[in-house]
Amino acid sequence: TFRWTRSLQLTLAVIKPDAVAHPIISDAVHQRILDNKFLIVRNKELQWRAKDSQSFYQEHAGRFFYQRLVEFMSSGPMRAYILAHEDAIQLWRDIMGPTKVFRARITAPETIRGHLGLTDTRNTTHGSDSVESACREISFFFPDFDVSRWYEEQEPLYR
Ligand code: TYD
Ligand code: MG
Repeated sequence: TFRWTRSLQLTLAVIKPDAVAHPIISDAVHQRILDNKFLIVRNKELQWRAKDSQSFYQEHAGRFFYQRLVEFMSSGPMRAYILAHEDAIQLWRDIMGPTKVFRARITAPETIRGHLGLTDTRNTTHGSDSVESACREISFFFPDFDVSRWYEEQEPLYR
């Protein structure tokens, strides 16, 4: 019987409105997901209201970019993915590159943000930054998906 040798981790990845608006850009991001052999556990297109944006980015309330961020993230459709991979959270963050596009372009031009990002706010993709935020963010985007149950169901495959 087949057994995984390494355990899978879940992360939440989002293609933001700047990229979904341009299929050539969102297709390029999707291709990165495939090239890096992520397992796509769920994916869907959705659009936020301003209140969803505000609640998702609550930790940034008051920062100089917050209003711009909230407006941008509710400005058009997004595509959200639950991705699985060994060390998925860090791997996806590495593929995305630095938050600030004008830094990414210089220091990491091969990353998604360095290559495809438009501005520090319109930076093409989101990725969870820790196990706790991945769990919270997956539930935020996919309320019907049970993260703990998914890990429990994977567990026998590693034995
Ligand atoms: P943050 O969580 O710091 O970055 P990341 O997306 O890499 O986890 O910030 C959330 C989003 O806020 C970021 O993707 C884009 C926006 N943002 C700005 O518009 N300007 C900024 O200077 C920063 C730090 C973030
Ligand atoms: Mg963040």
